[in-house]
Amino acid sequence: MKKILALIAVLSFALVVFAADKGPETIDLSKSFNYEKTTKKPVMFPHAFHQTKVECAECHMSAEGGKELKNINTGDILKVTKLVGTANDVHKEFCWACHKAKKVKSGTSCNKCHK
Ligand code: HEC
Ligand code: HEC
Ligand code: HEC
Repeated sequence: MKKILALIAVLSFALVVFAADKGPETIDLSKSFNYEKTTKKPVMFPHAFHQTKVECAECHMSAEGGKELKNINTGDILKVTKLVGTANDVHKEFCWACHKAKKVKSGTSCNKCHK
C-alpha cells in the first residue's frame, strides 16, 4: 500500500512538472510592451479565453508559447516599434489583423479591449 501511494505521489508530481505552461489567464499588455503612458485604458488581454479559440502557434512563434509573439500578417516575430495612435503595430500586425481575418464580431471596437 505504501509503495502504491508513493508511486501515485511521484506520478502526480511528474504530471505537474510536465504540464505545459499556459501562461497567465489575463495579461496587462501595456506592461508587456513596456508602455506606461497610455492615452486609452490599458488592455487586459483575455489569454485563457483565446486559448480556447485559437492555436498557441497562431500567436506565438512556438507552440509552447513564451515571449516571442507572431506577426499575424508576415508570420515573423512581432516587433513593436510604433505604439502611438490607432495605426500602431499591435493593432495592425497582431490583434486587429487576426480579428479582421477571422471576422470577429466588433473585433476592432475600442471599448472591447480598452476597458
Ligand atoms: C490570441 C493570441 C494568443 C494565443 C492563442 C496564445 N497566447 Fe500565450 N500569450 C499571448 C500574449 C499576447 C502574451 C503576452 C506576451 C508578453 O507578455 O510579452 C502571451 C504570453 C504567454 C506566456 C507567458 C510568456 C512570458 O514569459 O511572460 C506563456 C507561457 C504563453 N503565452 C503560453 C501559451 C500557450 C501554451 C498557448 C496555447 C495553449 C498560448 N499561449 C496561446 C497571446 C496568445
Ligand atoms: C490569432 C487570432 C487572434 C489574435 C492574434 C487576437 N485575437 Fe482576440 N479574439 C480572437 C477570436 C477568434 C475571438 C472571438 C472568439 C469568439 O467570439 O468566439 C477573439 C475575441 C476577443 C475579445 C472578445 C472577448 C469576449 O469576451 O467576447 C477580446 C477582448 C479580444 N479578442 C482581445 C484581443 C487582444 C487585445 C488581442 C491582441 C493583444 C487579440 N485579441 C488578438 C482571435 C484573436
Ligand atoms: C482587439 C483589441 C483592441 C481593440 C479593438 C482596440 N485596441 Fe487599441 N490597443 C490594443 C493593444 C493590445 C494595445 C497595446 C497595449 C496597451 O496600450 O494597453 C493598444 C494600444 C492603443 C493605443 C496606443 C497606446 C495608448 O493608449 O495611447 C491607442 C492610441 C489605441 N490603442 C487606440 C485605440 C482606438 C481608438 C481603438 C478603436 C478604434 C482601439 N484602440 C481598439 C488593443 C486594441
